[in-house]
Amino acid sequence: MKDDEFYYPSEEVVKNANIQNYEKVYKEAAKDPVKFWEKAAKDLTWQKKWTKTFDDSKKPFYSWFVNGKCNIFDNALERHQKTATRGKIAILWEGENGDKRKLTYKELYNEVNKFAAVLKNMGVEKGDRVAVYLSNIPEVAITMLACVKIGAIHSVVYAGFSAQALRKRIKDAQAKIVVTVDWSYRRGKVICLKKIVDEALQEDCESISHSIVVNHGKEKVDFSSPRDVWYHELMKKKLPVPKTEVMDAEDPAFILYTSGTTGTPKGVVHAHGGYMVGVYRTIKWVFDLKENDVYWCTADPGWITGHSYIVYGPLMAGVTTIQYEGVPDFPQEDRIWEMVSRYKVNVLYTAPTLIRLMAKYGDDLPAKHDMSSLRILGSVGEPINPEAWKWYYEHIGKNRCPIMDTWWQTETGMNIITPLPPVPLKAGSAYRPFPGIIADVVDKDGKSVEVGKGGFLVIKGSWPAQLKTLYHNPQRYIKTYYDKIPGGMYLTGDLATKDKDGYFWIQGRADDVLSISGHRISNAEIESAIVSHEAVSEAGVIGKPHPVKGEIAKAFVILKSGFKGSEELIKEIKLHIRKTIGPLAVTEEIEFVEKLPKTRSGKIMRRVLRAKELGEELGDTSTLED
Ligand code: WT7
Repeated sequence: MKDDEFYYPSEEVVKNANIQNYEKVYKEAAKDPVKFWEKAAKDLTWQKKWTKTFDDSKKPFYSWFVNGKCNIFDNALERHQKTATRGKIAILWEGENGDKRKLTYKELYNEVNKFAAVLKNMGVEKGDRVAVYLSNIPEVAITMLACVKIGAIHSVVYAGFSAQALRKRIKDAQAKIVVTVDWSYRRGKVICLKKIVDEALQEDCESISHSIVVNHGKEKVDFSSPRDVWYHELMKKKLPVPKTEVMDAEDPAFILYTSGTTGTPKGVVHAHGGYMVGVYRTIKWVFDLKENDVYWCTADPGWITGHSYIVYGPLMAGVTTIQYEGVPDFPQEDRIWEMVSRYKVNVLYTAPTLIRLMAKYGDDLPAKHDMSSLRILGSVGEPINPEAWKWYYEHIGKNRCPIMDTWWQTETGMNIITPLPPVPLKAGSAYRPFPGIIADVVDKDGKSVEVGKGGFLVIKGSWPAQLKTLYHNPQRYIKTYYDKIPGGMYLTGDLATKDKDGYFWIQGRADDVLSISGHRISNAEIESAIVSHEAVSEAGVIGKPHPVKGEIAKAFVILKSGFKGSEELIKEIKLHIRKTIGPLAVTEEIEFVEKLPKTRSGKIMRRVLRAKELGEELGDTSTLED
């Protein structure tokens, strides 16, 4: 970490930024965050104005825009119908094989209204849950927006999760409908998502009445269940457009499952009002979106990044958002740069793992393409190492595009610690909290640590897009975020330091959560998948640094008596993980061992496993049993 080298924005960036006089804005927002957010909320459309901006009487369950009535659909689509934006392209979709689709704001609006009518007609009511298991195609956005329009709660499950993982989430949310697609495309392969859904629905999913299937591929799929219906057939029906539901600002808009430190995923709940305010304000200021921008966030809609910054954020801002179904280095390694140049992308938001991969492919690849359209770059998902940051800055941004290294989480809903285009940057630092947010680095007693010292990253008070709760598990909400350190602060689970200039440097997770290529997955989830294999008795999973993926998982496995470790068995266990959680969790390394280090109470000490594996000091081993 080099904390005294600044990268200054150009005069042009400062002059044209949506945020002006940022130092003044920061100061005023710090003095009165509620006033700051109240002002931000006024940039959006409300069906009825709130009576109280912020209420902490039931903390840590905070309320924003109390008694306000709104619907995020109004802000993402309805309000653009009255302006010239309606004719503009909302979604530019491209498939890996080069197929293309374009939807204007008007066309997207019509599709969403039609699909909202379909859902309503199938009995979906306000408050009902709809599971979404789609690839990165426009129907994800259509489904999400159709749900929120009628007040239904969507639960998007990333298509890299297995049938079992999908089943768990459908069951937990008691979803009425699942929306999926026949085939999806990835690295030249076709994957039958419909088949995965069928497998998920074999057990424990009685709540599902219908599986709506988007026809996207050419190959046939099994359609024998009476529950299966084609999306395009349903969309042919002439149905009256339902009214946009009047939602309370605090009513849930969606659930998104994420990994905690235990094996069971957490259903993070976000509500209409605060979420839309936080996402809109951040996308306008951090990514500095202008009316005619082409914006590309390379994440998948199945993650929070996709929810906030592929679907809701860009649509609320009325820009053109790119959806690309496929991997960015296929069929050519420079696919991503070729697309940036072809679509004249102005703002690119991607992840450190991809930046490192691209840097590995070489400097000459981006140099082949005219990427002069780029104005702002973004990074998210894991700490960006200074080397990758500098490569991105130099070879992609040509030393003139500021990099917005945005730190946030599924739970925060919006960027929390992030630079703004006019601020001086440091390579590898996520700068300071967004205006109106108070973050700090504290020790286990909740006391601020000194400059340069490591500690727990916390957020004090609330922010508009804060999760409301964990779905039907408010105790776990309190336990996870508010019970571990004193002082009533939101515990993020990350470690950080603050330097002498007040810049935050995020160091990674403090808890047992891994970040593999920026995908969040817990050690415990992988361990429980491994021990559910018939040959395994116990398993301990650790993260190991990896030059491209940031981190990979390694498992230490004790076999049941009668089983012998072999290459074959390693393959089998990997396949088993793939089936239980999904390809994103497949453990790169598996080692068979006789014993695992444990505490006297029987908990596997992953810290000790990791230290041994990486040849580091063992640290405090006083609680070690053996
Ligand atoms: C965790 C949240 C919301 C973004 C997608 C991931 C890590 C995220 C950064 C960053 C360092 C980062 C943290 C965080 N993380 N962005 N810019 N610098 N670390 O959302 O799956 O909820 O994961 O991702 O560890 O806690 P998520």
